[in-house]
Amino acid sequence: MPVPLLDLKAQYLPLKDEIAAAFTDVCETQRFIMGPVVEGLEADVCAYTGASHAVGVSSGTDALVAALMVAGVRAGDEVIVPTYTFFATAGSVYRLGATPVFVDVEADTLNVSAAAIEAAITSKTRAIIPVHLFGQCADMDPIMELASRHDLIVIEDAAQAIGAEYKGRQAGTMGHYGCFSFFPSKNLGCFGDGGMVVTNDTATATLLQQYRMHGSYPKYYHKHVGGNFRLDALQAGILRVKLPRLDAWHQGRVANAAWYDEAFAELDLQGLALPTVAATTTRHIFNQYNLRTPHRDRLQAHLKAAGVGCEIYYPLPLHLQECFAEFGGKPGDCPNAEAAAAESLAIPVYPELTIEQRSEVVEAIRSCLAQV
Ligand SMILES: Cc1ncc(COP(=O)(O)O)c(C=O)c1O
Repeated sequence: MPVPLLDLKAQYLPLKDEIAAAFTDVCETQRFIMGPVVEGLEADVCAYTGASHAVGVSSGTDALVAALMVAGVRAGDEVIVPTYTFFATAGSVYRLGATPVFVDVEADTLNVSAAAIEAAITSKTRAIIPVHLFGQCADMDPIMELASRHDLIVIEDAAQAIGAEYKGRQAGTMGHYGCFSFFPSKNLGCFGDGGMVVTNDTATATLLQQYRMHGSYPKYYHKHVGGNFRLDALQAGILRVKLPRLDAWHQGRVANAAWYDEAFAELDLQGLALPTVAATTTRHIFNQYNLRTPHRDRLQAHLKAAGVGCEIYYPLPLHLQECFAEFGGKPGDCPNAEAAAAESLAIPVYPELTIEQRSEVVEAIRSCLAQV
């Protein structure tokens, strides 16, 4: 039996009736833009994360763009970003005319470190975007300490990490802004695009609310140029059904990751590296379970042939992307990220995976790597 990388239908089926009811509720009111359902989700996300304010937006990308706009990042500013992340982390900076400054990630966690960030600070640096990759928080205490020393804004890219914890603190609540994505493949996913910005600062939250409506306040009066960054009520309704289940889904992923860890440790396959959990991580939510092997391309082809879903996150670090050639990045600049790009392969870890499916995944990997 094929094992997909993610089986969204397995999550949907038990919730089908509740989701249909949430849809119907919104349809009955015909309030599709903003309104009580979006406000309800914002309150739910505040309660879940412990953030003081949450502002629903149209995607994780728009969460980053809105945060950067409100932070006042503009042409000529530099924003430090890890080179090993989804494109949106840097694309959002570039779209505002600012310069993404790429730094390498740690060899083990693949998250950015304070030391790497500090080495990249210049007089033009205005903000830092640490990414909590695959559902594990970056080491935020030293990052916040250096940000305060250099007077920099910290925007957490927690797109993959809602519910992840660092020393008991929630992803997204440690920086000045926390950005979440509700893209369907995230641990909390909607039926299209959606996102959220959280902050503990009331004035910042008010500005975020204005910027997501073209900077309008009062209506049709614009002190700022924002955008249409609104979250649909239909998506918010679905997310309100799902959020109470999120912790159980996280637990399922954590249990699957622990099961894989044990199974692979027993097999002791040559050159296979398992995900590293940092000492500061009090909860990894395993949006991805990412393996490393020097035989990655061979393993990927083998899993594909065996019907096991897998994906490379990410095949090319951002400093080497063609669209960023103007910044002069070259191979060798960020060796940890480049090695990860050559060796990484994510395997299925979604909560509904059965033991038979996990066994099938492990056996497919064993039968490939035992021969190398
Ligand atoms: C690290 C990271 N940042 C930003 C985003 C952008 O989120 P969205 O796809 O909701 O725009 C994603 C989503 O894939 C992501 O993984």
